[in-house]
Amino acid sequence: MTERALVSLTALERSSVVANNTMNRERGLTGVNSYARELGLDPLTWLSARPGAPSWLDLCSGEGRALREAAPALPADAVLTAVDLVGPLVPLPAPPALEEVVASVSVWEPTRRYDLITCVHGLHYVGDQLGLLARAASWLAEDGLLLAHFDPDSIRRADGSAAGRAAVAALRAAGFTYDARRHLLTLHGGRTIDLPFTYVGADPIAGPNYTGQPAVGSHYT
Ligand SMILES: C[S@@+](CC[C@H](N)C(=O)[O-])C[C@H]1O[C@@H](n2cnc3c(N)ncnc32)[C@H](O)[C@@H]1O
Repeated sequence: MTERALVSLTALERSSVVANNTMNRERGLTGVNSYARELGLDPLTWLSARPGAPSWLDLCSGEGRALREAAPALPADAVLTAVDLVGPLVPLPAPPALEEVVASVSVWEPTRRYDLITCVHGLHYVGDQLGLLARAASWLAEDGLLLAHFDPDSIRRADGSAAGRAAVAALRAAGFTYDARRHLLTLHGGRTIDLPFTYVGADPIAGPNYTGQPAVGSHYT
């Protein structure tokens, strides 16, 4: 195996793979180009069935269209949080329930727990994907739902060898289910997770993943 030149968080987030303006950042709530289609679940229907004020955290939210579309149909005290490294490129006034945070999900921390946490085709650009999944699991309500697209092929050992099978096995042992057809991880119920992987750095030239877009390689010991 060839050792790859791994980069730091700052270098990764400045790299062309993350600052890629051909990414699909515009998925809406339902329809052809949507969260409902990618997740196999309509977030609004799921949130509407919750008692009380529902909360939804969307990591790597792009333009935040799905949350903007959901907000008017939810109770006024619903909490919707969208986090993206660059935020919406088309700035529009946000509905009152929606907080748009411009930050890296690799360092951002919430101040509350959420009923629903989504990461729709966002992990592909994150260096420490397994670390983010573990952190997100701890931000989930006791009976909450976490959904995230995940490509096991992007998980590598420090020497570049494949670690995807081991990562999926560790995620399953921690309570996630993985749908290989949809490339989708699901977790029911917040929890503390300790995955047996230590992050060593990101490969910004790992090449295209299953989406056809260039993606990041995440390397672990
Ligand atoms: C393929 S787009 C998906 C956007 C949105 N989820 C959707 O489906 O429309 C990936 C998004 O991840 C964001 N992103 C990449 N790295 C990030 C990071 N470290 N922290 C927060 N957002 C990040 C990008 O800015 C981009 O908006």
